[in-house]
Amino acid sequence: MCGIVGYIGQEEAAPILLDGLRRLEYRGYDSAGLAIFDPKDGLRVVKSKGRIQALADLTQDGTALKGTMGLGHTRWATHGAPSDLNSHPHMSEDGTFAVVHNGIIENYMEIKEFLQSEGIHFASDTDTEVVAQLMEYYYEGNVLDTVVKVLNRIQGAYALGIVCADCPDRIIAARKDSPLILGCGSGFHLLASDVTAIIKHTREVCYLDDGEIAELTADSFWVYDAYLRPVEKERHHVDWEISAAEKGGYEHFMAKEIIEQPKAFRDTVFPRLQEGRVVLDDLQLTPAYLAAMDKIYIIACGSSYHVGVAAKYTLEKLLRKPVEVTLASEFRYCDPIVTEHTLALVISQSGETIDTLAAMREAKALGARVLAVVNVVGSTIAREADDVLYTWAGPEIAVATTKAYSTQLALVYLIGLYCAERLHTLLPEEYAAIVAELKEIPQKLEQILSNREDIQFFASIYFNHPSIFFIGRNIDYAVGLEGSLKLKEISYIHSEAYAAGELKHGTISLIEPGTLVVALAGCGKLFEKTVSNVVEVKSRGADILGLTTVSRAEELAKTVDHTISVPDTHPLLLPTLEVVPMQLFAYYVALHRGCDIDKPRNLAKSVTVE
Ligand code: AGP
Repeated sequence: MCGIVGYIGQEEAAPILLDGLRRLEYRGYDSAGLAIFDPKDGLRVVKSKGRIQALADLTQDGTALKGTMGLGHTRWATHGAPSDLNSHPHMSEDGTFAVVHNGIIENYMEIKEFLQSEGIHFASDTDTEVVAQLMEYYYEGNVLDTVVKVLNRIQGAYALGIVCADCPDRIIAARKDSPLILGCGSGFHLLASDVTAIIKHTREVCYLDDGEIAELTADSFWVYDAYLRPVEKERHHVDWEISAAEKGGYEHFMAKEIIEQPKAFRDTVFPRLQEGRVVLDDLQLTPAYLAAMDKIYIIACGSSYHVGVAAKYTLEKLLRKPVEVTLASEFRYCDPIVTEHTLALVISQSGETIDTLAAMREAKALGARVLAVVNVVGSTIAREADDVLYTWAGPEIAVATTKAYSTQLALVYLIGLYCAERLHTLLPEEYAAIVAELKEIPQKLEQILSNREDIQFFASIYFNHPSIFFIGRNIDYAVGLEGSLKLKEISYIHSEAYAAGELKHGTISLIEPGTLVVALAGCGKLFEKTVSNVVEVKSRGADILGLTTVSRAEELAKTVDHTISVPDTHPLLLPTLEVVPMQLFAYYVALHRGCDIDKPRNLAKSVTVE
């Protein structure tokens, strides 16, 4: 997804902006650019297709651009192919304005045609350029008034950074549906898409809300509503370490974040277990509300959706209430059955996924109470939900999620226990057993990670397979979905995840000698059933990589070609252990294939366009 950085202060802006853009690389991009106001030469824009290093080479690491105010941008192409001309910043035809944008201007074509009919010439194929040209069209000397007119004219999602050659002592910003943060420093101020880009300079931030406009100078900033009425903003202190957003000696962020899972799980769960009970202070779900609750609607995308698939099994078991899981992008258009007694459980690592944000707003409008599980503090979903529980996984930089997925699962377990205690749907001894086992999970994760060479070996055998299947039943199927996505995301190998019992209803036709099938058979009550499905594919020549618990490994080894085992645990907590070998398998396969593991092609860490 696009990344925005802005700086206004006493220091040379370009090197600061380049460093900020490098810290946003994980968001995914295909081009980058800078706009700097030079006191001698005016507003200068340098931009290019490709990596940020190309931009650094063009500007001698920013030293060739003089000036203490500017904007930087990394572009993830939506409208207009990746190219130098389509890169941001975009300038107005007369060179007065430079604009960077994250989001989509949905009515850009009609605006572009109108402006062209007014004699304005466009340089790019992008939607964003209409903002720069509209600024020139409406400009009569007051930049803020001009911004209001432009925002009233455009439709869609935007995080905007705007600079004007006539007033180089300020940066203007505006947001709707796409995140934007202000960084507050002494003698300088910053603008960014997320905290990672600016934490090196300041930990004091403000989060812009939808419809707000900000004006930043070196010494101060102001925030206004859509009518330019001043808005008081709360300052937040960011308390995670910069090192948390750096590789720390690992070859890839993904490797670091897989290894961090025991700590992330411990940080997320242990503070919320007090004297043998789950304590979720942030939660306001009363016993009366829970008793009247008619359904839990889990809404998410991608891996967060896969957490929801696993959560359905867990929460229905613990609460004995209906749980429906749906893709956020589908929820809005399926005429969902939602009442005031529906709890919408919205799961999102970034807290900015626009499909999930829009679906959450729809669920709220239909009367649901929203509980969000989010990793990024202060993100839009977190701020708009009725209740929010943060995963304390720390910043997750790799596009392919790992520790955020497993800490989201962890919070689902805690939510289930919290609600079951209030609904009296769990015997005290069962409750105690699960709480006790939660405390064992970090060391069991460490055990799995200490044996990762076995998985590296299997990856070395199978990394060139054109297609890999994941099968499992019940909660194993949920983990198989995530294992398949991880493999596809970072190794670009085609993969399918199937409920093991469903394979024979069609897809087994694709199984032929040499096809690799990863069979997840950790779910004890269905072990025999799953093994019989394994025999079905084995009889058609498939190679089988089996995954199960230690207590069943010997039995499974009689049927499969290779066996991976995870420590035994409570059946409801199994996904947290099973997913780690799946993550490692995907990682090592991608490593063997020489893929760009942290920044896979076509992908973005936070998808803020529909
Ligand atoms: C997961 O590895 C992917 N990066 C992707 O599927 C991701 O889970 C999805 O885009 C949802 O992101 P969110 O959790 O930030 O909402």
